Amino acid sequence: MRRLLDKVLKLPSQENLFDIPSLPSDLTFSEFNQRTTRGFLARKLSQYLDLTDEEGNRLCYQSLRESSFLQSDNDSEFLLQLSEKMMKWHEQQQDVQKEIEELEIKNHLKNALLKAHDMHKQDLFRSSSPQSNHKQVESFKDKDITEWEIYRDVIFAATQGQFLLISEEEISNFATGNVFCEGTIKERTDIPLCRNKAKESLEQLGFSKSKFVGWLLVLSEAITNTIKHAEEGQMTLINDEEKNEVRFLIKDKGPGFPLEELPKKTLLAGYSTKKSMGQGFTLMMKMAKQVLLCTSSTGSTIILVFEADKEKGDLSAGG
Ligand SMILES: Nc1ncnc2c1ncn2[C@@H]1O[C@H](COP(=O)(O)OP(=O)(O)O)[C@@H](O)[C@H]1O
Ligand SMILES: [Mg+2]
Repeated sequence: MRRLLDKVLKLPSQENLFDIPSLPSDLTFSEFNQRTTRGFLARKLSQYLDLTDEEGNRLCYQSLRESSFLQSDNDSEFLLQLSEKMMKWHEQQQDVQKEIEELEIKNHLKNALLKAHDMHKQDLFRSSSPQSNHKQVESFKDKDITEWEIYRDVIFAATQGQFLLISEEEISNFATGNVFCEGTIKERTDIPLCRNKAKESLEQLGFSKSKFVGWLLVLSEAITNTIKHAEEGQMTLINDEEKNEVRFLIKDKGPGFPLEELPKKTLLAGYSTKKSMGQGFTLMMKMAKQVLLCTSSTGSTIILVFEADKEKGDLSAGG
């Protein structure tokens, strides 16, 4: 649906603003963080100004594209420019509130800036060096909801809704439907075992091989990850006829994903040609309609969502 919307909303510009931004492969984490934070702030401003969600998303993508908007005189980049200014003032230890008040802009805009600063000053406007503290998700969730939300919102927007971080409670929303196959993941030999089990069950349900061959590939990747990064886990395959989806849930009791790695895995995946980075996430993002992830220091659940249409044809284009 979102993708369809994005298509409909395609802007008649040289570059499609709803494309996943092309990020340089040498983008450092702090630069990435700066861009995502700026996008998050601009998105908040757009919310306070009652702009549409699409406009908020566009700002997020746009923020990822450019290193700076301070010189921009493009109206559509004004909120990004203001967000960047706020960040800069803070960095230079200026009185952000005073600076906002002195801006020559309309009052409603000023109020939005003040609100954004007020709401997010503790977590956004602080100098952090992500390299030095390799935080796990749980610490984000417990002490730092906003930072978790930034990751969730920005990755969601930048992947056009394809990758979504979800909370523990939200898992149940995706666990409804008919469980048609289950398996335990403990050792390497479970990889082909689970894959074969899944294959047989999918065949029994009437899916064609050409349809599920890609699904099995990413299932193998997810299971391999469980063994490689998390030891023990469980796979559950669900057929949700109501939503016309097949979902693979892979749950483990591992240490959780390092949050700050996620943007790279989900957004920069295609760019890391030099480093021999894992292909697991790249493949998941390529093959699945959506990838959902719930992760904390006590374990992770990854949910791969696939379109279930059994009839081949041009249905998929309709969303
Ligand atoms: N089940 C998991 N638990 C914790 N971290 C994981 C899990 N699966 C993947 N990861 C993290 O995500 C990264 C990317 O995974 P992937 O793209 O499959 O590459 P690779 O497995 O080759 O490292 C891993 O390096 C690891 O840090
Ligand atoms: Mg892997």
